[in-house]
Amino acid sequence: MSSVPRPRWWRRLLIGVVAFATVFVLAVGGGVTWVYVNAVVSTVDSTKFENELAVPPLAQSQLRTDGTRVFELDMRSGRKEFRAGQTTDTWGFNGDYLGPTLRAKRGEKVEVRVRNSLPEASTVHWHGMHLPASMDGGPHQMVAAGATWTPQWTIDQPAATLWYHPHPHGVTEQHVRRGLAGMFLLDDEISESLPLPSNYGIDDLPVIVQDVKFRGAALDSGHAIFRDVGFLGDQTMVNGTLTPYRNVGDELVRLRLLNASPARVYTFGFADNRSFSLVATDGGLLERPATLDRLQLSPGERAEIVVRVRPGERTVLRSNKLDAGLDFWTGRFAGGDDSFDILELRAAAALRPSPELPATLAHPSTPDGTDSVQERRFELNLSGINGQKMAMDRIDLTVTRGTTENWIVHNNDGMPHNFHVHDVQYRVLELNGTPPSAALTGPKDTVFLPPNATAKLAMRFDGPADPNSPYMYHCHLLWHEDQGMMGQFVVVEPGQSAGRPPSHHGH
Ligand code: C2O
Ligand code: CU
Ligand code: CU
Repeated sequence: MSSVPRPRWWRRLLIGVVAFATVFVLAVGGGVTWVYVNAVVSTVDSTKFENELAVPPLAQSQLRTDGTRVFELDMRSGRKEFRAGQTTDTWGFNGDYLGPTLRAKRGEKVEVRVRNSLPEASTVHWHGMHLPASMDGGPHQMVAAGATWTPQWTIDQPAATLWYHPHPHGVTEQHVRRGLAGMFLLDDEISESLPLPSNYGIDDLPVIVQDVKFRGAALDSGHAIFRDVGFLGDQTMVNGTLTPYRNVGDELVRLRLLNASPARVYTFGFADNRSFSLVATDGGLLERPATLDRLQLSPGERAEIVVRVRPGERTVLRSNKLDAGLDFWTGRFAGGDDSFDILELRAAAALRPSPELPATLAHPSTPDGTDSVQERRFELNLSGINGQKMAMDRIDLTVTRGTTENWIVHNNDGMPHNFHVHDVQYRVLELNGTPPSAALTGPKDTVFLPPNATAKLAMRFDGPADPNSPYMYHCHLLWHEDQGMMGQFVVVEPGQSAGRPPSHHGH
């Protein structure tokens, strides 16, 4: 006698289970594949440039008798027609979307009357500005709905393209994405003496790049599945203009690029791969122009580039796929495989001649690290910096006024991050153990760190000291910042110790 046949019900159950499991695996696999394939976006070669680029107006200011230049900013909600016939609810400064360009000169005393006409509390932070911590507009300087906040400081740093945006802890991504951002340009004697294109709105153009997504008429804020970096849009706009073009009438055009997007990293270049000159980074001019054909900017970073155009031609500023060594999964879901046609420049048939770019620009203003008194390490992870999430009432580190420090920042996470420090501009001494490429040789306040990257930064803290008011350092992928990838430092006099942040604010 051989084996006893298994009862039929058992076999049927087995077949059923195997069939179900197979269908399940195929369905999940198919679903993931579908999500993966559909996660990539590109507007390259499909963009019709049909809207003239808006240029944010220069902000009006009053000169008080004591010489203070006074600006007014009103944060308000508005409505804007990004697309014909579709009215979108927005937020803006002094208008429906984005804000005017503030402009001041080194040595000037400025005051900004910030009024919050929004339905909720927010702040205004001066990104890249060297100023007292209590004027910084970080999460401790909340402006209640209906309230006014009037910071004052003296501009004491080199000419640069800075910007301003809200910084309320936990909701910065939402406030910026709705439209609260603007440029703050600084001039100095050096920038005014150099023959760089400097006719604002003519041959010197602000280029505020944001990625957006519409859900009906509304700006979508949702994070799609697997998007660990936060919000990613499916198209870009410049200065709030979709599919923008700009007529230019000069041989050389200076573009002040600002990545004001919540999470997207751009790799700028031109569609025909022409080269351009990088003249400034976050905190101001380089020592000399650098010739590039690609330039990476992560959220919060700025760069000034000068591009030459030929009479009658059209050329497109493009963002290319990200080359940052991301794996196929992270690359796709962090937006690294995406590409965008950003802005079309249309050159007039006859162009005004521009002077040649100067061979040298400015002396370095950031420290070279040789006089550093302190070295600190920062491990970046979405779960926190050095293992800790931001706490409003915890000072993470104390630095001494007038000293230079080296900060070593390592991304030990599987996703891209960047690193921004308030109040200072730093020099990137090393990236992954080697001297940085030309694009990172200028003054920086934000640096991109793909997974496993390490940057060595040198910065000097010139004060003023205030043991009770912290400055922030954080990942500038805004959702990461909101999640607590942020820490606080205070600047103190030698021998002084940190106080307590006013924890009653911002809660
Ligand atoms: Cu642009 Cu702390 O931010
Ligand atoms: Cu900042
Ligand atoms: Cu991050």
